[in-house]
Amino acid sequence: MLEKVQVFAPASVANVGPGYDTFGFAIEELGDIITLTKRQDDMLKILPAEGADLPLEPENNVATVAIQSLLDHLGSEQGMDVHIKKLFKPGSGLGSSASSASGAAFAANILLGRPLKTPELLIHALEGEKLASGSIHADNVAPSLLGGFQVMRSYEPLDIFQVPTPDNLHVLIIRPDVEVKTSMAKGLIPKEMTVKNAREQWGNVGALIHAMHSADFELLGRSITDRIAEPYRKQLIPQYDEVKEEAMQLGSVGFNISGSGPSMFALFKDEKSARVCQKYVKEIYEKTNQEVMMHLSKINPNGCQVI
Ligand code: HSE
Repeated sequence: MLEKVQVFAPASVANVGPGYDTFGFAIEELGDIITLTKRQDDMLKILPAEGADLPLEPENNVATVAIQSLLDHLGSEQGMDVHIKKLFKPGSGLGSSASSASGAAFAANILLGRPLKTPELLIHALEGEKLASGSIHADNVAPSLLGGFQVMRSYEPLDIFQVPTPDNLHVLIIRPDVEVKTSMAKGLIPKEMTVKNAREQWGNVGALIHAMHSADFELLGRSITDRIAEPYRKQLIPQYDEVKEEAMQLGSVGFNISGSGPSMFALFKDEKSARVCQKYVKEIYEKTNQEVMMHLSKINPNGCQVI
């Protein structure tokens, strides 16, 4: 029997414009490395994390909440040491808690002999995500666990599916150095919207899915707009309008807030344009003496993986 397992759980971009709480895709290289080691007792012990200060009490840590949910479901009392290495900052809008929760559930399932299939781990990872954001939303957890571009068709019952994406789509992640808590950013969104705005939103949702299937970049560019979150959350993000305008002028085929921010994503159909954009965005933040982190990625077809 396996005594120790180490997994990589990717970061993710949620909402993707019009798909508030319903669209998300995994990205490459950024994510969590989670190491679980079996214990001789029934304790879940969190070791000090690398790359971030994370809670050490099992009931306050998204990873152990996800593992406990899985253990309860299986009727297991297997203890584990839990170590998390974060390759990106929490509070970035890149699904930090989802990476920890999905990676922990995925790793624990392996340590327990793979009693569940990976999609069946979603509800356990979601328990962890609920602790972090105060609400159930799977648009980071599903891509982190399963990879690719995932759509949450329904939450009750949970029904998700994957959409193919064009091979040459490049994603530039831009994260100014401010922290945004998802629970706070969720509070900014009005509870109701007009039929006029809703009609525009679902027109764009349909168009975005068709654009991904057909690699229609012009349609993609027209459909990555948002009436639900962007108008209320962009105020939290330094230079948002300026960066968006620059990216669109430099050929971005879609720009918006990643999850609850402060990260933004800009889609490009080639790497060269993305790199040019990266240079100009850096200059925007240099002018205002602000730190910015950028990461160029493709959509990651893989979710959690043993490393
Ligand atoms: N869909 C969630 C939100 C993602 O926008 O609040 C949080 O990362």
